[in-house]
Amino acid sequence: MMTSPSQSALLDLLRQATIAAEKSYSPYSGFRVGAALLLDGGQLVTGTNVENVSYGLTICAERSALVRAVSEFGPGIRINAIAVANLNEAASPPCGACRQMLAEFAGPDVMIIFPATTGATTMRFDEVLPFGFDMTLKKNPLGN
Ligand code: THU
Repeated sequence: MMTSPSQSALLDLLRQATIAAEKSYSPYSGFRVGAALLLDGGQLVTGTNVENVSYGLTICAERSALVRAVSEFGPGIRINAIAVANLNEAASPPCGACRQMLAEFAGPDVMIIFPATTGATTMRFDEVLPFGFDMTLKKNPLGN
């Protein structure tokens, strides 16, 4: 895995997430979110939230970026760093579903930057998802 990104690299990633949020399709909530993933190969992939009139079918920015990354670069991708931003001057840590999806391609030491109530906050991935479901753990529901 690549070395950890510097704080300035994370701030760059945050800027890319903010730019991605401009593309948000969010007529129902008005909450415009962007996500940017830095992959181990150095590629940058962004995504935004795409809402639906059914509400529940809405896709978050983080999962948009993730499915785009796999679609473009294949199943072997690994995430090096993650940024989340919104244009609403609100806190927006990634939701639980997105954390679990990101965990598939992000190790515990991946850094994530997101808007918290106290402003842009950087954490390790295992701090934002300490007890994610992991099939490689012993005693998972399938017993393998
Ligand atoms: N949203 C995201 O894009 N990412 C998150 O982590 C939380 C929520 C979106 C979904 C919906 O379009 C809007 O924000 C309001 O919940």
